[in-house]
Amino acid sequence: MALRHLLSLDDLSPDELRRIVARASELKAMRRRGERPLLFAQRVLAMIFDKSSTRTRVSFEAAMIEGGGGAIFLSPKDAQTGRGEPIEDTARVLSEMCDVIMVRTFAHSTVETYAAYATVPVINGLTDRSHPCQVLADLQTFGEHRGEIAGRRVAWIGDGNNMCHSYIEASRLLGFELAIASPAEFAPDPALCAAAPGVVVTRDPAEAARGADLVVTDVWVSMGQEDEAAERLRIFAPYQVNRALMSLARPDALFMHCLPAHRGEEVTAEVIDDPRSVVWDEAGNRLHAQKALLEFLLEAARA
Ligand code: CP
Ligand code: NVA
Repeated sequence: MALRHLLSLDDLSPDELRRIVARASELKAMRRRGERPLLFAQRVLAMIFDKSSTRTRVSFEAAMIEGGGGAIFLSPKDAQTGRGEPIEDTARVLSEMCDVIMVRTFAHSTVETYAAYATVPVINGLTDRSHPCQVLADLQTFGEHRGEIAGRRVAWIGDGNNMCHSYIEASRLLGFELAIASPAEFAPDPALCAAAPGVVVTRDPAEAARGADLVVTDVWVSMGQEDEAAERLRIFAPYQVNRALMSLARPDALFMHCLPAHRGEEVTAEVIDDPRSVVWDEAGNRLHAQKALLEFLLEAARA
């Protein structure tokens, strides 16, 4: 059994990443024809959520239900994890009863510990470090609208956060240019950037946006950073994605945001509600990307 986890996109080879994204589009086309294959019959996904979620929870749960399996939602309010049961023990117990474990949490080391002790695949459903599942859906969305992303230019505007880190990994794996504009205090991990030859980091949002095929942003205050909100809103103010910034990108540039969004902060209403914004496709693609990922990991575990 070749147990595989998805803790970051770096856990995949470029070919595996391309295959998962292509399969997501295929599953979407099938669903539109009314086909919902029983990909996960009698399979069970455990979902640990130490942070809030709408898209990640619903897409994973819907994927399992549509595929003939089921998903169990566990929050620290009602699971023993919230009362201090060690992760090492929880991982082993869930592995006895479930086929896959998805974890959304704070420290990235938490998902690494789950993976070290689980005997089933572990999926990172967002940590402070990265958000690989969202970027799978983003890559699917770009491909469906614009085709091959290799050789294209993506502008990341704002916080060098978990989403940004997963974009950096995707840039390295798929060979697209990634221009990141972030304040010095909130720049992405330099080691991750150094490993990705297509990444450039600047302080200047205009420089990053110029000529971009895709402009992406995210909230200025991520989950767990609420205490820093006032300072962050002040520092990030020049990093808003607005019409003026979008006008520097290519005329056919897409806009993406993983959501939830704060209109008037990181993005203006006119940009997120503009036809060049594909945020609803991007959110919807979470379902298909999740299915493709679950299928990939379950097949690997069976091999
Ligand atoms: N984009 C995303 O992961 O959304 P949720 O926090 O709603 O899961
Ligand atoms: N960067 C955001 C993404 C939410 C999906 C956060 O971590 O809160």
